[in-house]
Amino acid sequence: MFTFIDLFAGIGGIRLACERNGGQCVFSSEWDPHSQKTYHANFGETPHGDITKIEAKDIPSHDFLNAGFPCQPFSTIGKREGFEHKTQGTLFFDVARILKHHKTKMILLENVPGLVTHENGNTFSVIRDVLENELGYVTFHQVINAAEYGVPQERKRIYIVGFLKEAYGEDIKFEWPEPDTEDVFISDFLEKHPTGYGISKHLQDTYLFKKEDGRPQLIDKSSKIKVKTLVASYHKIQRLTGTFVKDGETGVRLLSENECKAIMGFPRDYKIPVSRTQMYRQFGNSVAVPVVEKIIKQILKAADFPFQAPMNETKQSSLFDI
Ligand SMILES: C[S@@+](CC[C@H](N)C(=O)[O-])C[C@H]1O[C@@H](n2cnc3c(N)ncnc32)[C@H](O)[C@@H]1O
Repeated sequence: MFTFIDLFAGIGGIRLACERNGGQCVFSSEWDPHSQKTYHANFGETPHGDITKIEAKDIPSHDFLNAGFPCQPFSTIGKREGFEHKTQGTLFFDVARILKHHKTKMILLENVPGLVTHENGNTFSVIRDVLENELGYVTFHQVINAAEYGVPQERKRIYIVGFLKEAYGEDIKFEWPEPDTEDVFISDFLEKHPTGYGISKHLQDTYLFKKEDGRPQLIDKSSKIKVKTLVASYHKIQRLTGTFVKDGETGVRLLSENECKAIMGFPRDYKIPVSRTQMYRQFGNSVAVPVVEKIIKQILKAADFPFQAPMNETKQSSLFDI
């Protein structure tokens, strides 16, 4: 069994992936009250609030740190002055100070692929420099598309994995998980006429199909495809590049709650005690659980972690009757 902490926890997508690998959560932090509510409904604990206000010594010791932290620019002034200066005022600073205090053995950071090019590459190079040269980690990074790992959604994210040199030496053999051989498509996950998700005819005519700057992806139960990335603002339909279903009272509807769970690889019984707006925002901010689950499995393998509970890798199968 390994212990982990869940930072920027959202609704606990990374926690689910850790628990499926036999991990035990010893601390979580998430400041958004709506996400805290969903987290509590599913894990029975309310995450601690603002991580910037929590001292590293008040966090229990742990084997594994997980963080899907927001991407922010670093000041380039403090180039040679240690991570405190290089990363001050950013949330990566808080990740770094926790790692420094606890000498956490394994880490997994998740972010949008744009992290690599953010601020002309400076943000990413500071993160790697701090992890490798100041905190003593061997790191690996890769942009991975969740679509290749068992969910019917295109969702590219960058994952940064780190192993503490002091614990594992420098030539750690870490390998990214192999893509699944079997493909899954949205057609197998669509619900039969869920109600209340319709997009009004008026909105369709005046907005959804009107604009020139992008076309929505329209799907139905014959669509042997993957849906586009679920974004946090999906419910606002401001992103005309999203995916909508040809179905329902008005002919076009949003993805339902159960369909969101399916494309993010969450179990169908995951509790969502918040409004629909919050539900889309929370899933849009979260992770595709199966890909994270597989990455963590590879991390534990490389770290040769002494004891692991049986790994119940969850396979997304056709969850709904069509
Ligand atoms: C990209 S989301 C991570 C979602 C998470 N991986 C999941 O599976 O749901 C980033 C989260 O960080 C939270 N956050 C941002 N600043 C924070 C802070 N200072 N303290 C605690 N949480 C914070 C946001 O509310 C948001 O839910």
